[in-house]
Amino acid sequence: MVKEQRNFDFTGSQESMLERRIQKRIHATNNKNIDDYFEYLNNNSAEIDNLIDVLTINVSRFFRNSLSFEYISSVIIPKLIFQKVQANENSLRIWSAGCSYGEEPYSIAIIFNEFLNKEKISLKLNIFATDIDKKALKHAAAGKYDSVSIKNIKYALLDKYFTQKEDYFTISSEIKRMVQFSFFDLLDKNHHVPQESIFGDFDLVLCRNVLIYFNPEYQKNIFNKLYKSMNKDSYLVLGESEVPVEAFKKKFKRVNNITKIYRKVGE
Ligand SMILES: C[S@@+](CC[C@H](N)C(=O)[O-])C[C@H]1O[C@@H](n2cnc3c(N)ncnc32)[C@H](O)[C@@H]1O
Repeated sequence: MVKEQRNFDFTGSQESMLERRIQKRIHATNNKNIDDYFEYLNNNSAEIDNLIDVLTINVSRFFRNSLSFEYISSVIIPKLIFQKVQANENSLRIWSAGCSYGEEPYSIAIIFNEFLNKEKISLKLNIFATDIDKKALKHAAAGKYDSVSIKNIKYALLDKYFTQKEDYFTISSEIKRMVQFSFFDLLDKNHHVPQESIFGDFDLVLCRNVLIYFNPEYQKNIFNKLYKSMNKDSYLVLGESEVPVEAFKKKFKRVNNITKIYRKVGE
């Protein structure tokens, strides 16, 4: 029903996860079982959005898995920029795939901004951030966060890039302007990159804590998209508990054994 009406394909999601999440809605709507809930869904058009809400898991944080961000900041950013300077190119392209409320692409924007300012380098940065959850994208574009989202941020960065009002922290417009948010379904059969990015060609792709929700066949489709979207000599960042599926093991080389960061192996 979700697929037919909203074109969201959860058929490749882990079954136990689906069961747990649907169960939540069965309880919340005071239904007894899945059959009753199905009927309820049919009779209450607003419920489908509540169901999609619980099926798309949005948990995120600024600088989640801080070690990955430290590595990106101290090794990958200088390398990518050096490559660009060598090739006489002046723009760098980044994709946060499954960006949720925006903490991930904004964290990346902050560390790039810090580096470029410190080294006095002028480079055009294009940061694309996509998700299938339109509510999350709206939230991301507003850039307003609670104290849980920001708890991994170093104080100096928090002070520099956020303004606090009561219990909320709003990201500066300088960082907001660096990120372009749009809808993109990683299971889309017709496009391998967000249309806004035109041709992909990314130097750095982050797809973290999204793959864990899909079975290997669907993961393979997603890896295929990510691989095609990436430039030669580019990097892929996965979540802590994610690894490339079998068919892509040789196409991505892990850069070290402490983070889940991979370098694309040539075509
Ligand atoms: C747990 S969050 C991860 C957020 C962030 N990447 C992080 O690691 O903190 C997973 C996100 O993936 C999104 N998602 C799930 N299925 C998707 C799909 N088919 N295409 C694009 N995004 C998807 C969800 O809406 C959710 O916002």
